[in-house]
Amino acid sequence: MRVDFNPADMSPNKFYKLLTATVVPRPIAWVSTIDPYSGCANLAPHSFFSIASVTPPVVQFSSVGRKDTLRNIEATGEFVVNFTPEELFEQINDTATDFPHGVSEFEAAAIEVEPSLRVKPPRVAASPVAFECELHSTLRIGDGTVVFGRVVHAVVSDDVLVDGHPEISKLRPLSRLGKNEWGTVSGVRDLARIRHEDWQGPAADR
Ligand SMILES: Cc1cc2nc3c(=O)[nH]c(=O)nc-3n(C[C@H](O)[C@H](O)[C@H](O)COP(=O)(O)O)c2cc1C
Repeated sequence: MRVDFNPADMSPNKFYKLLTATVVPRPIAWVSTIDPYSGCANLAPHSFFSIASVTPPVVQFSSVGRKDTLRNIEATGEFVVNFTPEELFEQINDTATDFPHGVSEFEAAAIEVEPSLRVKPPRVAASPVAFECELHSTLRIGDGTVVFGRVVHAVVSDDVLVDGHPEISKLRPLSRLGKNEWGTVSGVRDLARIRHEDWQGPAADR
């Protein structure tokens, strides 16, 4: 038996809870930006996050509603996506607090900054990966705005690299699940894609 849900019959909030509980696990973009008027550095997690394009390298995240992060990016055309490792769990959550405009989450949550190479917003010093981005475009959909950022520089801490490649057991990413749940990577399985010439029938029959 299956249970049907029609978004037209449900409150937006109820359907949002269904979506966020089932589109899981979601990687988290920890987005740093700068207010161009005050110079205040802003930091906030966004889990509606993915890769939009490989060539050129473009990442995307969605702002639900108009928040400081979105306003700063529209005004400056720059942002940094910082990686969210397990060891920064509570600090990441601290930066999702709805501090008043003008309060820097870096200062409020005591998060150390480091300068970026190609953009003005700083990186999170303790995060092992950062993508420095220039705004590519935005797309407004309903109450959301999808922000596309062209990655102009990437930096990775050497202690998460094995043979020059980021290693999942060292990265230890946090993800967002439903409700107030967060995910950790507890098991990794390896399976290569099958080329058509090697196809030996459906998995259930092999
Ligand atoms: C793990 C996590 C993921 C979040 N993902 C999003 C998201 O994808 N989009 C969004 O608009 N807000 C998201 N939020 C909420 C924002 O982080 C929060 O509204 C924050 O205060 C926005 O900060 P700002 O006003 O400084 O931009 C998320 C919060 C948490 C804790």
